[in-house]
Amino acid sequence: MEKTPFLPPLMFLLLFATFSATFSANITTDQSTLLALKSHITHDPHNLLATNWSTSTSLCDWIGVTCGSRHHRVTALNLSSMDLTGTIPSQLGNLSFLASLSICHNSFHGSLPIELTNLHRLKYLNFGNNSFSGEIPSWFGSFAKLQGLFLYMNNFTGVIPSTLGNLSKLGKLSLFNNSLQGQIPMTLGNLSNLEWLYLEDNSLSGPILFSTITLFSLLKSLFYN
Ligand SMILES: *[C@@H]1O[C@H](CO)[C@@H](O)[C@H](O)[C@H]1NC(C)=O
Ligand SMILES: *[C@@H]1O[C@H](CO)[C@@H](O)[C@H](O)[C@H]1NC(C)=O
Ligand SMILES: *[C@@H]1O[C@H](CO)[C@@H](O)[C@H](O)[C@H]1NC(C)=O
Ligand SMILES: *[C@@H]1O[C@H](CO)[C@@H](O)[C@H](O)[C@H]1NC(C)=O
Ligand SMILES: *[C@@H]1O[C@H](CO)[C@@H](O)[C@H](O)[C@H]1NC(C)=O
Ligand SMILES: *[C@@H]1O[C@H](CO)[C@@H](O)[C@H](O)[C@H]1NC(C)=O
Ligand SMILES: *[C@@H]1O[C@H](CO)[C@@H](O)[C@H](O)[C@H]1NC(C)=O
Ligand SMILES: *[C@@H]1O[C@H](CO)[C@@H](O)[C@H](O)[C@H]1NC(C)=O
Ligand SMILES: *[C@@H]1O[C@H](CO)[C@@H](O)[C@H](O)[C@H]1NC(C)=O
Repeated sequence: MEKTPFLPPLMFLLLFATFSATFSANITTDQSTLLALKSHITHDPHNLLATNWSTSTSLCDWIGVTCGSRHHRVTALNLSSMDLTGTIPSQLGNLSFLASLSICHNSFHGSLPIELTNLHRLKYLNFGNNSFSGEIPSWFGSFAKLQGLFLYMNNFTGVIPSTLGNLSKLGKLSLFNNSLQGQIPMTLGNLSNLEWLYLEDNSLSGPILFSTITLFSLLKSLFYN
């Protein structure tokens, strides 16, 4: 009877210790994450990552990698126009300080792992001009800080998920040249910060039923088929 009051705090401490040990990501985690990404690159014709992403140098000096000055964690990854072919591993979701991810103008393919939703700090996401397929995942609506979303020139199919209307900070949305169809979701009318929207070269049907008339004044250009 006397012991019971001590059990809950002890259990809590044990749980907390286990939790910390499992989830305390650091620069070492970031390195293994980028090495996992490297191992998912099947073709690197200019040997960019093959020679440059070497464990003998700090990952903050690796090509395309930017680290934050305060936390010394990877804050931006820019692999645009490197002629890379590969897929996105679920481990990429472990880059918990990542604010900008750009892999545009490559040949990344496959579908996108749901673990990317762990990237809570993401403000800019550019997957444009690759070969991604499947539906645009509805969990894209969980990137609360996202300001720019670029998925143009891929092979995304299905409808535009209505959850994109959740992205209250979104200023730029580019989905042109995919295989999207159906109605443009009304929830996009909730995007009060939207400056521009590119939807052309898809099989979308109108009319665009924006819920807020003010959105029209914010839209600088609007194209759709
Ligand atoms: C990173 O965390 C792991 C445990 O998650 C630990 O073993 C390692 O020493 C840490 N590395 C640095 C550089 O703090
Ligand atoms: C990797 O690339 C960066 C940026 O181009 C360069 O500064 C660095 O010296 C390269 N490192 C190696 C080991 O080639
Ligand atoms: C990525 O790098 C390219 C070439 O160095 C540059 O033009 C582009 O602006 C960069 N993108 C981001 C998001 O920093
Ligand atoms: C990274 O993410 C993967 C899959 O999401 C997970 O299984 C793994 O434990 C994580 N690794 C580290 C070092 O945190
Ligand atoms: C798309 O990316 C390829 C490289 O994968 C590049 O050659 C091409 O110019 C890009 N297209 C556009 C329209 O940017
Ligand atoms: C939409 O946003 C709310 C509040 O920020 C969040 O709870 C919810 O999970 C989001 N929905 C999706 C599909 O991400
Ligand atoms: C896009 O996907 C559809 C259905 O999976 C397929 O038939 C088509 O060939 C793909 N197009 C391109 C350009 O990859
Ligand atoms: C869409 O992109 C594909 C390559 O991904 C290209 O072959 C095609 O010409 C583009 N279509 C339009 C209408 O721009
Ligand atoms: C988003 O838009 C839908 C449809 O226009 C509406 O029903 C919903 O209340 C809106 N949500 C928010 C958070 O404004």
